Amino acid sequence: MSERKKALITGGNTGIGKVIAETLAEEYDVAINYISQEEEAEDLKKELEEQGAAVLLIKADVSNFDDCTKMFDEIKSTWGGLDLLVNNAGITKDNLILRMSPEDFQGVIDVNLTGTFYCMKLASRMMSKKRSGKIISITSIVGLHGNIGQTNYAASKAGVIGMTKTLAKELAGRNVTVNAIAPGFIRTAMTDQLKDEIKEGLLSTIPMKKFGEAKDVAKVCAFLASEDADYITGQVLSVDGGMNI
Ligand SMILES: NC(=O)c1ccc[n+]([C@@H]2O[C@H](COP(=O)([O-])OP(=O)(O)OC[C@H]3O[C@@H](n4cnc5c(N)ncnc54)[C@H](O)[C@@H]3O)[C@@H](O)[C@H]2O)c1
Repeated sequence: MSERKKALITGGNTGIGKVIAETLAEEYDVAINYISQEEEAEDLKKELEEQGAAVLLIKADVSNFDDCTKMFDEIKSTWGGLDLLVNNAGITKDNLILRMSPEDFQGVIDVNLTGTFYCMKLASRMMSKKRSGKIISITSIVGLHGNIGQTNYAASKAGVIGMTKTLAKELAGRNVTVNAIAPGFIRTAMTDQLKDEIKEGLLSTIPMKKFGEAKDVAKVCAFLASEDADYITGQVLSVDGGMNI
């Protein structure tokens, strides 16, 4: 039996990241990065180990370069390398620009954009040497279209798209593909906190007239991670029920 491939999922113990971890664990050993909700992380580790995957739980703040360096060092010393990085960790701190504090702008950039840059940089080093690998980042429809009250989030997610295209060009010759997934409105704890009238307003903007589920994103992630997507790089795949049409 060939050795299982190795994947790292940031923010992988909740929401979309958790379902990505569950989906990938059918084929991969998984390193699950988390920053809070330790109990959920431990429960997920048990669940995936029962499915036959080796699981590394790594507590790290992706907006901190030392934390990220230690996380990649642990992966290197345990597994020797990494085949797949999924940049999923993300936060929102919404407000209209007139009320948005510089701290709330910077806080979202630090996690969503700089954190993705740190992980991309550290994964690039490992994957370039091996001359194989895949990097997938979860951006958002908001990074493509903007959204009222989300200047910080839109800037961070648009930045992830720019980095994805750039890194795809830098690493193409090394047989490393770099892609992004842009979900629309997916039902998770992040979106459950929205008021009902906002959810109804959003629903009216979705041509398919239904919200997405985390598994809709996880399946596209599994496709981009698979050999079937070996010749796809620098792309942003929308998973949004038609919002991007
Ligand atoms: N839910 C949606 O509708 C939707 C739509 C578009 C994009 N997204 C993106 O999908 C990703 C997952 O979101 P979700 O909806 O599952 O929400 P979520 O809050 O469940 O997931 C985000 C995860 O990131 C982790 N995280 C936050 N800050 C971190 C840090 N500094 N270091 C490490 N981990 C950190 C959180 O603890 C959490 O586990 C995010 O990047 C989000 O922006 C979600």
